[in-house]
Amino acid sequence: MDQQVTVVDHPLVQHKLTLMREKDTSTASFRQLLREISLLLAYEVTRGLDLTTKRIETPLCEMDAPILEGKKLALISILRAGNGLLDGILELIPAARVGFVGLYRDPETLQPVQYYCKVPAELEDRMVIVVDPMLATGNSSVAAVQLMKDKGAKNIRFLCLLAAPEGIARMRAAHPDVPIVTAAIDSHLNDHGYIVPGLGDAGDRMFGTK
Ligand code: URA
Repeated sequence: MDQQVTVVDHPLVQHKLTLMREKDTSTASFRQLLREISLLLAYEVTRGLDLTTKRIETPLCEMDAPILEGKKLALISILRAGNGLLDGILELIPAARVGFVGLYRDPETLQPVQYYCKVPAELEDRMVIVVDPMLATGNSSVAAVQLMKDKGAKNIRFLCLLAAPEGIARMRAAHPDVPIVTAAIDSHLNDHGYIVPGLGDAGDRMFGTK
């Protein structure tokens, strides 16, 4: 396996993902599971954060204790489904800065077009984690990562829940410097761009819009 693609095979992640895939799982349960699973995925995607040490005093003695170095990391949610991953990650990293990217697909060119972008300042000095639950065709994810690079980001990771081989290949080709963390790599995309076996439309399932 490509070192830049990490499948989080922890039993809790896999168990929760199975419950999310089931078509009869309610919106409330889906949301709750997504919150729990995103916390576990966040743990994995932040593994490479830099540490420094700080001189502190415990009740017993002084010590040089590890502490995160540098600016707060930036979480970038691709609207709208990315927001479902955001909540759990923010529970783990409450001080993270948050940005949003909105993209729609031009019906004629089929290319992603930006309709919203608001991101934290000084992206060049932060670890930037772009989040979207589904890496399907990769079109919007690749465009969102490019947008972050255009704004100066240099240390970018991509976090998703499910990935299709097609999306991974597209992301690796466009952004070989961006590690991908996912809970599973599924079989393929169907003719409508849905991941198979997948879990359906992640946005509809988390927001109850279908
Ligand atoms: N987006 C989704 O929500 N689901 C898919 O299967 C693919 C893209």
